[in-house]
Amino acid sequence: MSFRPNNSPDNATKKISKETFYNGLKIVQYLKPHKFLFIIGSVFLIFSTLTALTFPYLFPLLIDLAHHKEVHLIPISGTHLFTIHSRLDLMKIIVGLLIIQSAVSFGRLYIFAQTNERVLASIRHDLYNKIISLPIQFYEKNRIGDLNSRISTDVVKLQDALSIDLAEFFRQVITLLGGIAILIYLSPKLTLFILAIVPIVVILGISFGGFIRKKSAEAQHAIADSNIVVEETFHNINIVKAYTNEWFESNRYLKKVLKIKDVFLRNAIYKGAFISFIILIMFGVITVVLYKASSLLEAGILGDAQLLQFIIFTVFIGGSIAGLGDLYGKIAVAFGATDRIVQILNQESETKIQPIPIHKLDGNIVFENVHFHYPTRSDVEVLKGISFSVANGEKVALVGASGVGKTTILQLLMRFYNIQQGKITIDGTSIYDMDVQALRANTALVPQEVMLFGGTIRENILYGKLDATEEEIINATKKANAYDFISKFPEGLETIVGERGVKLSGGQRQRIAIARAILKDPAILFLDEATSALDAESEKLVQNALEALMEGRTTIVIAHRLSTIRNADKIIVLNQGNIAEQGNHQTLSAQQDGLYTHLLKLQYQLH
Ligand SMILES: Nc1ncnc2c1ncn2[C@@H]1O[C@H](COP(=O)(O)OP(=O)(O)O)[C@@H](O)[C@H]1O
Ligand SMILES: [Mg+2]
Repeated sequence: MSFRPNNSPDNATKKISKETFYNGLKIVQYLKPHKFLFIIGSVFLIFSTLTALTFPYLFPLLIDLAHHKEVHLIPISGTHLFTIHSRLDLMKIIVGLLIIQSAVSFGRLYIFAQTNERVLASIRHDLYNKIISLPIQFYEKNRIGDLNSRISTDVVKLQDALSIDLAEFFRQVITLLGGIAILIYLSPKLTLFILAIVPIVVILGISFGGFIRKKSAEAQHAIADSNIVVEETFHNINIVKAYTNEWFESNRYLKKVLKIKDVFLRNAIYKGAFISFIILIMFGVITVVLYKASSLLEAGILGDAQLLQFIIFTVFIGGSIAGLGDLYGKIAVAFGATDRIVQILNQESETKIQPIPIHKLDGNIVFENVHFHYPTRSDVEVLKGISFSVANGEKVALVGASGVGKTTILQLLMRFYNIQQGKITIDGTSIYDMDVQALRANTALVPQEVMLFGGTIRENILYGKLDATEEEIINATKKANAYDFISKFPEGLETIVGERGVKLSGGQRQRIAIARAILKDPAILFLDEATSALDAESEKLVQNALEALMEGRTTIVIAHRLSTIRNADKIIVLNQGNIAEQGNHQTLSAQQDGLYTHLLKLQYQLH
């Protein structure tokens, strides 16, 4: 279920493994709908690259023409297609080719942009859809930051590769092969000589390059490390300031910054050495080739123009070999990014992303011998064979020590997790046989800490029913005791609540969540300590709103203060993964040595 995290150093070492390669290739399926455009783009690419190869061939011919030699172009079986007599004629051909070349280059860039941007839009959307349709446990096994970077960083890496690197790669390959072909045509002897040296240079370059990349992975690590400090302190800036630990944090960050400096300085030595090495080799090869070529010139085997052509093509080839090494690194990065994207796309969704018809349930809940442990903590059995039932319209309270598994029961009912043993049914059907969204469409949860979306109050309330009318919204806010405070805001329903709702008080957030739940109008309602974080006054407002919300619904209440659940139809007392006792307030409080009575006494002493 989990995948390799983004920032691990082995990912940054840019090697394409077999698996990564196959996963990377899966992205090709996104190209299929655009294959026609893609093929035209490729033809343009080949054409513009081949045209570019004609220039180093044509320019040196100016020397021959200056010496009043005639120049033959495009040899065909012993004769040739063109003969050029003046420099001006050659210039006309070159200018003509330049114009064609730039037009074709524009065409290729634009056509590839068309296909790439469409492909990327599909990938972005698919990826987002996939991630939000994955089960909760996926989110528990992967950090949100990692998932985030799948959609941002990894897609951008892929974008770079598709929009620049891949085309450039093929351009260099064509240049390399075309260049070698022309070299062979010019002088097979010299070409053989070069081809003997080139592999040695390439091997040296690749192994050195690999070493450098490993080192730069360490550098990335150092940067990621420093970012952790930045993120932590920015997130908890209140605590940093309250404890006047700016000095401490500053030093903590300084250490990381100095570490980055050291790593980069050390890498600068390797990089410098690498670049000087490449330059040395490049010029070394050219010098040797030149020396060899001049001997051919001396012997009259090679003309002036041919010598120049030869040198330029040698430089071209050298350039494309160096370029290919660099591009290999970039493309490997893109393969890595694609691999991580495909790993997510391959996960199994729990829901489809599409609007679903809502079938209203009655809300008869039955737990039968339910055993459960969290997937991330298989050694701790939270529920050890729990059985209870809640009839349609009943209010049932779950009571027990913190950590006993009350919230877990609600999460199971929303099917955030699978149970290991037993049965959970609603209206006689196992919840695992229902469509998960159809199930969740029938439930609403008001938690202790309500998190809101950062937009307006209206948007947050509408989340319960996206097509609600103005009247429905107003009615919901009134029922939720939220109308008054919302009307007092100058912007009313359009008030921005701030990130996660920080600009509202806890009680206000709670009542917005209640209004949202009222709009959703679920058959089954869960209240998880909905009032326990509130002061007495807002507790009363929220409690009244909750009463309105509970009206006519099957409700499971988890209450911190036992006084609020006195009227429940049934109280279920949990203890160590089991149900210790169940009954209503009268019967349970009558049991002198019962757990409920014990809890009541504890609370009585507290208040
Ligand atoms: N997502 C989770 N992954 C692993 N363990 C969890 C998770 N959520 C809760 N737990 C553990 O399960 C137990 C029951 O938790 P919970 O149902 O939240 O208790 P409470 O009765 O206080 O609501 C606790 O021991 C808690 O640590
Ligand atoms: Mg809880």
